[in-house]
Amino acid sequence: MMIPKDIVDNIFETARIEEVVGDFVTLKKKGANMLGVCPFHDEKTPSFTVSPAKGIYKCFGCGKGGNSVNFVMELEQFSYPEALKFLAKKYHIDVPEIELTAEQLEKANTKESLYVVSNFANEFFQKQLKTNEGLAIAISYFQERGMTDEIIQKFQLGYNPESWDALTKEALKSGYKKEYLEQSGLSIFKEDKSFDRFRGRVMFPIHSLSGRVLGFGGRTLKTEKKIAKYVNSPESDIYHKSKILYGIYFAKSAIVKEDCCYLVEGYTDVISMYQSGVENVVASSGTALSVEQIKLISRYTKNIHILFDGDAAGIKASFRGIDLILAEGMNVKVVLFPDGEDPDSYAKKVSSDKLKNFIHNEAKDFLSFKTQLLQKETKNDPTKKAALIKEIVGSIAIIPDHITRAVFIKDCSKTLQISEAILTQEVARVKRQESSSGQVNEYTPKQAIKAPSQKKVDFNKSNYQEWEIIRFLLCYGDKEIVFFEEVEEVSEAGNNKTIVKEYTLFVAQFILEEISGEIQFDHSVYADILTEYMSFINNDELPSPNHFVQHSNPTISQVATDVMSNRYELSENWKKHGIYTDTEDVHLRLAVETAVYSLKVKKIEQLIKSAQDEMKSPDLETQNQALEKMSKLLLLKKMISEKLGRTVLR
Ligand code: CTP
Ligand code: MN
Repeated sequence: MMIPKDIVDNIFETARIEEVVGDFVTLKKKGANMLGVCPFHDEKTPSFTVSPAKGIYKCFGCGKGGNSVNFVMELEQFSYPEALKFLAKKYHIDVPEIELTAEQLEKANTKESLYVVSNFANEFFQKQLKTNEGLAIAISYFQERGMTDEIIQKFQLGYNPESWDALTKEALKSGYKKEYLEQSGLSIFKEDKSFDRFRGRVMFPIHSLSGRVLGFGGRTLKTEKKIAKYVNSPESDIYHKSKILYGIYFAKSAIVKEDCCYLVEGYTDVISMYQSGVENVVASSGTALSVEQIKLISRYTKNIHILFDGDAAGIKASFRGIDLILAEGMNVKVVLFPDGEDPDSYAKKVSSDKLKNFIHNEAKDFLSFKTQLLQKETKNDPTKKAALIKEIVGSIAIIPDHITRAVFIKDCSKTLQISEAILTQEVARVKRQESSSGQVNEYTPKQAIKAPSQKKVDFNKSNYQEWEIIRFLLCYGDKEIVFFEEVEEVSEAGNNKTIVKEYTLFVAQFILEEISGEIQFDHSVYADILTEYMSFINNDELPSPNHFVQHSNPTISQVATDVMSNRYELSENWKKHGIYTDTEDVHLRLAVETAVYSLKVKKIEQLIKSAQDEMKSPDLETQNQALEKMSKLLLLKKMISEKLGRTVLR
């Protein structure tokens, strides 16, 4: 599957980084850049930077960076061609569709295949709504539940027919492989028989943030108790239940707009609320709310309202959700629906305005919610009241921000009529306990929070010297630097005098002249960039600044973005050495020279190390050769170190 070069170029030029990222992350303008909360790691203060001018993003927290294509690759786990196609679709750029041959199908990796087969199934299920069986059974069911055609289409609802293997048969006939049908959970193969997992069920596809189908929930239309009401897709390479929320694809822009996310229990709750005009709604369907799901919401808003049935199970579920959300430093309110109603039934019963007002008026912060509920239970029993206070203190202790904690302690002191000092003490005690006990209970999110992979610019990282060279090539390769050379000039009269000659070189020329032929890069990506840069120079050309950022090899564009976004460090680095010069170009020359000589010293040190190893050889000849090599290397190192010393001290 090759996408023609001119189309790739067109996609890169059209897909503005701030728009692509803006679909997933709320960005605020900050100077020339835009800032948001990083979607790739867990952070409270935004350090995710987008530079519209450079066409790149960079997170200064976790180090991830790249161009528009890298961004969707990373976020959606797309392959390179998938990412291009995704962006092409967003910008209505035609990508010539090349039919997949059987061979190509074979080659496509598992994930891609799972996406493709899920998409096929989704189309298949929707088509079944138009068959006689679909119309008679599924459509009439949806209509009975008050769903409009529009909403059925919007959420891409479908139907898996009653027969044993309608989907499986069709998929196999169309060339989809057994193994992917099985892995996606759509089909079950037993001995020589095959079955559809969802037979006789109405289908709710579960979409990724960008609208790809990851899995399904299938609801039975039978009322027998022993049949599971819902059957869901199993976990697969593309479907991770705890990492996705049902409806998020449709809700995300409304969540940002309303600056609030409503969390409900089921597929039908999401759909009914949406149909009533409440669009900022998602469900953690089929699983208990997870930390990852909360983090997903926190990309769009810090405010979550839990909308649950007023029955015991609903309340229990909301209790657990509250603490998880609080631990993420987010604001949580709870809306309980009247007895016997859930968001779905209530949205059907009342007008859109009444629904909105109800949510607005009923939303209670967690403290009043818990207090009210538990007070009902405790009446005037002092032991029970103590237990209630402990329960509430437990929630307050989870809040990461101490000011918010203080506010809740104050509120709690008022509602429960207990002194603030005691509450503060108790909160502190719970916090101490929590941090000292290695054991964290199942619900405490601490355990679930994985340390983000920190990948900051690390001056001690191996290959740092190579990285620096690449940085100078890409950021400053086309800048000119002036060198001064002392030359002896013989005059006609025969007396020599020393004059200083000035000459100019591009940074790239200087670097490549100094290191080409002499030095091999260890890091394969840096080496590739170097080679490619060299071939430009050999043709008397300089690559355009965007050439490597927009490189068709995603690892190269990744590295290019990484180094380009570290441009600012030029003078920082010099300040570190205590050097202050007035002009940027003097800075630049010193910096480039240092980078080149440091690399050389590093390489020589490596050679010295291997010579040292050779000297341990039992073979006398080898020893002698190593010794000779060593003394040359040490001399070379001394020379270069002197140059380096001069550079640094000048
Ligand atoms: N659920 C599930 N498996 C079940 C029952 C429920 O995965 N056997 C999940 C589904 O995601 C469901 C949610 O839990 O949407 C809430 O369950 P429930 O309230 O029973 O279903 P509703 O979505 O309300 O469906 P309906 O209104 O059709 O009864
Ligand atoms: Mn329901």
